[in-house]
Amino acid sequence: MVDLIGKLQDEARQGEAIAPKAGDTRSYARKFYIESYGCQMNFADSEIIASILQESGYGATRNAEEADLVFLNTCSIREKAEQTVRKRLTEFKSLKKSNPGMLIGMLGCMAERLKTTLLEEEKLVDMVVGPDAYRTLPVLINQADSGQKGINVLLSREETYADISPVRLNSNGVTAFVSIMRGCNNMCAFCVVPFTRGRERSRDAFSVVAECRDLWDKGYKEVTLLGQNVDSYYWHYPETGTQVTFANLLEMVAQVHPDLRVRFSTSHPKDITDEVLHVMAKHENICKYIHLPVQSGSTRILQLMNRTYTREWYLAKVKRIMEVMPDCGISSDIITGFCTETEEDHKDTLDLMKQSGYDFSYMFKYSERPGTLAAKRYEDDVPEEVKRSRLEEIVSLQNRLSLESNKRDLGKTFKVLIEGESKRSSQDWMGRTSHSKVVVFPKENKSLKPGDYVMVKVNDCTQGTLLGQTI
Ligand code: 5AD
Ligand code: SF4
Repeated sequence: MVDLIGKLQDEARQGEAIAPKAGDTRSYARKFYIESYGCQMNFADSEIIASILQESGYGATRNAEEADLVFLNTCSIREKAEQTVRKRLTEFKSLKKSNPGMLIGMLGCMAERLKTTLLEEEKLVDMVVGPDAYRTLPVLINQADSGQKGINVLLSREETYADISPVRLNSNGVTAFVSIMRGCNNMCAFCVVPFTRGRERSRDAFSVVAECRDLWDKGYKEVTLLGQNVDSYYWHYPETGTQVTFANLLEMVAQVHPDLRVRFSTSHPKDITDEVLHVMAKHENICKYIHLPVQSGSTRILQLMNRTYTREWYLAKVKRIMEVMPDCGISSDIITGFCTETEEDHKDTLDLMKQSGYDFSYMFKYSERPGTLAAKRYEDDVPEEVKRSRLEEIVSLQNRLSLESNKRDLGKTFKVLIEGESKRSSQDWMGRTSHSKVVVFPKENKSLKPGDYVMVKVNDCTQGTLLGQTI
């Protein structure tokens, strides 16, 4: 069985750069092309990078062949993601043969992790730029132009790119990501992020709100606030003594406009507060949906993973969410086959999935990452075939849970934000409910357009989609 959902996260979002800013009439002598891999955070970073490059006089292109600068914004989270990037770099290297002036740059987490390997040993790239060094790109490009290798992988304790207004790449004009913090201070044993993205730091609350207001003014209808662990967001204004928690920030963004939908990702079960739940319940425009990764349903494995909560704690959180918002959607990330995982631990995970009733999950086989706590302390001892068969079981259970959850929505009417045309048919619109379910419905009413809210009654469903009719 294919891990479709997990695969989606690993899939490249290719060539998302693109057209200069609206109203930008400058002609650019040199063009850049950028491909993003990995998580939403990385995708948001590519928009910051595009902004830095455009401000320095480089124009975006969707076509790598006509680019003078080719960038891959990379992910290190699983080995497979790294392999994909290596393959892509080799392809670009051959493209360079027909365009010797072209520079290839590796950005993001892999740049941080592999530093000089790709630059010096494998000679695949001209520039290596870590996640906190994007402001230095113009200087590094100049260096690389003059034949030196351009490298900056310094991690920062302060950089949040707060003042940079991202260029919205490949945008549907309706939904946008807004980065509210960077890095991560949790030391989950499996995860490379604290090493590749550095210490956690929050971004000035007013700059977050200003970016959301600007998006609203430009016609956007939904913002997703992004961070590795949004619940530990914290900003402090020493002049006034004002403190801003994530619950405060969420409320400030919700107040930008009642028709601006607000989402956020990712929440850590140990940090999500009642205050956040109450702010969510209070504002209709904060979407009733929480991505709450559990990783494993076994307390023993959770301890080894250094997640700092137990199975019971997690289930109590889910219960609390449902008490405060009975209609809230919940999704999860699950890793199967972590070090020493037994059949019993695996059964605990299946059982917890059922009890939580996830609407969907991102599901992964454990992949050991160099330098992590798990790599140092434990043996990656669950055989590949066991990982595979456990993943299959987890995926098929999730498929069943998703279908059951969708069936419960049959006959109900939802407020749907239209995001665009359905991928399957130009006769249908695709949009999302507050609890993040995809809804497809016929374009009967000619006056509707992307960005409109519409009431849709659900009359059918698949495991991944609700099907309905406008009312
Ligand atoms: N192996 C497999 N999955 C991982 N994730 C993070 N590190 C690893 C790893 N080493 C998953 C976690 C995390 C998601 C973004 O990726 O489930 O929540
Ligand atoms: Fe994003 Fe983590 Fe991958 Fe880095 S390693 S791109 S933070 S998912």
